[in-house]
Amino acid sequence: MKRKAIYSSKALSYAHTFFRRIKERGTLATLQYTLSYCVDYLFDMKYKTDTFSYVGLDALGIDDAKKKQGYDYGPTHAVPLRKLFKALRIQPGKVLVDLGCGKGKVLLIASEFGFKEVRGVEFSPLLCDIASNNCSTYKARTKTNTVFSIHKSDVLDYRIKDDEDVFYLYDPFDAYIIKQVLKNILASLQRRKRKIWIIYHDAEFRGMVEEKMNPTTVFDFIFWGKEFVVFEVEQGEIGMRRPVPPSRDALL
Ligand SMILES: C[S@@+](CC[C@H](N)C(=O)[O-])C[C@H]1O[C@@H](n2cnc3c(N)ncnc32)[C@H](O)[C@@H]1O
Repeated sequence: MKRKAIYSSKALSYAHTFFRRIKERGTLATLQYTLSYCVDYLFDMKYKTDTFSYVGLDALGIDDAKKKQGYDYGPTHAVPLRKLFKALRIQPGKVLVDLGCGKGKVLLIASEFGFKEVRGVEFSPLLCDIASNNCSTYKARTKTNTVFSIHKSDVLDYRIKDDEDVFYLYDPFDAYIIKQVLKNILASLQRRKRKIWIIYHDAEFRGMVEEKMNPTTVFDFIFWGKEFVVFEVEQGEIGMRRPVPPSRDALL
């Protein structure tokens, strides 16, 4: 009886949120958002992973000083991320690093796109454990050849490796941290000249990336209301930017 009451109050609250969103964002955007959530929920059911649920800052197990610079955990959605990787067509055999990887959702999806290795850097011990479990469960189920690794570290202490090609950031950091991360990437580029991609989801400090990295190409990608900016940086070239027109979802 008690359980029934809980279910009906949950259903009511979902319905309330759904209609509030329709009012705020419109019907199409709300349907896309809801569908995207369903796909993420089914992803976890299919692969027996745990990437879907949010974790608040207080539950991350990090100290108070770090909390000031941190954010809650929330995953990148599978549908827009897959669309983005399809559009980018990055050659197989590259290494991707998710700086602030949370439960590792980006690593799992990236493994579908020919990455040789995917690395996650995360300072929450709780999320690192979940991400490691997710990677091994996912690898066992999909039999992918991609190598997964999770590094329990603050991104400020993570030394960018000279074999890393694609850097993923999902609005996890304040301006200071982004600046240090970019410095770290530039230092690696000086050690080994190469082409890299920075994929920045909800790019709050995109201006800083453009200024510091002098990208050759900046690509805006929007799908189902989720925004990504991709910066291509080719060390050795004079930074001649060739802006690519934004890719808009046909449904928008
Ligand atoms: C919005 S979540 C994104 C998770 C994942 N990248 C994804 O897209 O699914 C941001 C993550 O960054 C982590 N984070 C924030 N500041 C960090 C730092 N200084 N060092 C390492 N991880 C950090 C948080 O714990 C959180 O898991």
